[in-house]
Amino acid sequence: MSGLKSTAQEWEVSEDKQQRLAPFAFNDQSVTAGEELYNTNCISCHGNPGQGNYQQLDPIPGDPATEKIQSNSDGSIYYKIYEGKGLMPSFRNILAPDEIWEVVAYIRSFNDSYKQLVAEVQKLENVRWSEIKILLALNRENKELTATVKGLEEDKWTPVPNTGLIVAAERYFGQLQIDEEKLTDEKGMASFTYPENIKGDTLGHVKLQSMLTDQDLFGRVSTDTTFRIGMLNDAQPLNKERALWNSNKKAPLWLIISYISVVLAVWGFIFYVLFQLRKIYFAGKKETVN
Ligand code: HEC
Repeated sequence: MSGLKSTAQEWEVSEDKQQRLAPFAFNDQSVTAGEELYNTNCISCHGNPGQGNYQQLDPIPGDPATEKIQSNSDGSIYYKIYEGKGLMPSFRNILAPDEIWEVVAYIRSFNDSYKQLVAEVQKLENVRWSEIKILLALNRENKELTATVKGLEEDKWTPVPNTGLIVAAERYFGQLQIDEEKLTDEKGMASFTYPENIKGDTLGHVKLQSMLTDQDLFGRVSTDTTFRIGMLNDAQPLNKERALWNSNKKAPLWLIISYISVVLAVWGFIFYVLFQLRKIYFAGKKETVN
């Protein structure tokens, strides 16, 4: 992180994200895991680190062993992989947060002067909080959802800072992520902007799930909150109105008449056949008598 300016400077990563640190200390194991992930996901464009054999794309992907990439902070590399830009794909749905950190560990293994910020990491490694909760608040005016993450630390709820958080709306199938992943500030807070055209139920209710992203560290911490921020959904449930026979009153007249006619016609035909059989039977009887 010297004053070296490179093209990397054009790819802006916000200050708080630059500061983000891995939730675990890099070691041989994470480097090996990261190498495997790099070879499947990155090598096609970035080549073998240290050999400069990356693809000639515009802008160039660059060699991870060089200053171009090493001059980034850990948090910047993490977010560049997470978000992608132009020809560089986003890996948010391909790699889990811990896997991205493993790739960062592998990239850093080509930098002899790199020192991971161990003090911070150690603090995070033995999590201070015995229980964590997320509170989601609505600010309708700014179309914002503000999450506050607090942890129980010896009988006191204290803010959980510098941790990743996502908010997703529940859909029929799967979830729709709202805004991007945010980091909590020193008060444990992060704000998300929600879109106006989000789909709600018949009353416009939207069920939201707030979730911490560092699951290795915190386990699965999530909270469900329902807010009335969606568009009204006037699609009727399938068992309403449309079911023909759930009540006579709902069936249209033409349908009732044609149904009754079909029933009468079928029974009429059956009686007609029976009547003809009876005629044949009696005709036969008359003959034998004669
Ligand atoms: C399809 C090609 C492609 C793949 C696959 C790809 N990248 Fe990239 N990458 C690029 C390009 C192109 C850029 C330059 C983007 C820019 O500067 O606008 C880039 C930029 C980057 C940067 C920022 C470089 C800088 O100057 O700050 C990092 C870090 C990075 N890639 C890491 C990775 C990692 C790790 C993977 C695998 C998980 C990966 N990339 C996969 C094409 C790719």
